[in-house]
Amino acid sequence: MDKTTDFPDITSPTIQAYCDKYSTLPQGYIRTIISKTEITGKSKMLSGEFLGQFLTMMSLLIRPKVILELGTFTGYGTLCLAQGLNANGKIYTIEKNEEHYNLAAQHFTETSTNYEIINLLGDATTLIEQIDETIDLIFIDANKKQYLNQYELLLPKLKQGGVILADNILWKGKVGHPDNDKLGKSLDLFNQHVAADDRVDNIILPIDDGVNFIIKR
Ligand SMILES: C[S@@+](CC[C@H](N)C(=O)[O-])C[C@H]1O[C@@H](n2cnc3c(N)ncnc32)[C@H](O)[C@@H]1O
Repeated sequence: MDKTTDFPDITSPTIQAYCDKYSTLPQGYIRTIISKTEITGKSKMLSGEFLGQFLTMMSLLIRPKVILELGTFTGYGTLCLAQGLNANGKIYTIEKNEEHYNLAAQHFTETSTNYEIINLLGDATTLIEQIDETIDLIFIDANKKQYLNQYELLLPKLKQGGVILADNILWKGKVGHPDNDKLGKSLDLFNQHVAADDRVDNIILPIDDGVNFIIKR
């Protein structure tokens, strides 16, 4: 038997299909980005539609003034996150891969927004230090080994009551499993660190590949 089949399913595909069917999934230009990303052959890295809608719902609820995304890829998550921004709001997004950065830049110019998108090229951990803002909503979705380090750099910049959403936190069901791989072990350590951190409240949600939903006390 293939070793990966030992890992537990995070959600049942049948139930996920039901949830998709009766949820508002991303619309308009955001859907176009999904199709454009599929052409690149790298769409595995794209946040799922259900997660995209979850990011939008969070943003609509929080009504953030400043958002930060680590790991832009083709800009899909950026636009999902930005849906709750008002006209004076801004979203920073950081990407280290130049090809991804350029694709996202192209997508951002093809859509009209009434908010500001600050598209940054470089290593997320390095560039966090340069963002001199109080942030309302953060989406961590870049290098999985860096989550803990980035969380510690980000927490002082997050406003009280602000939200961090960390993606891929269940690592295809591998976290906590004896056959977990290196990246999954880093994510496991991150989850343990957050759970023990009395500066925050958190809940791990089995959405897509798992989201750690963290609120700063
Ligand atoms: C899973 S994809 C992001 C998906 C995107 N957030 C979305 O919702 O569609 C991860 C991205 O992070 C980028 N990345 C990986 N390590 C990085 C780092 N250290 N700094 C910045 N970006 C990084 C990758 O090149 C890739 O484009």
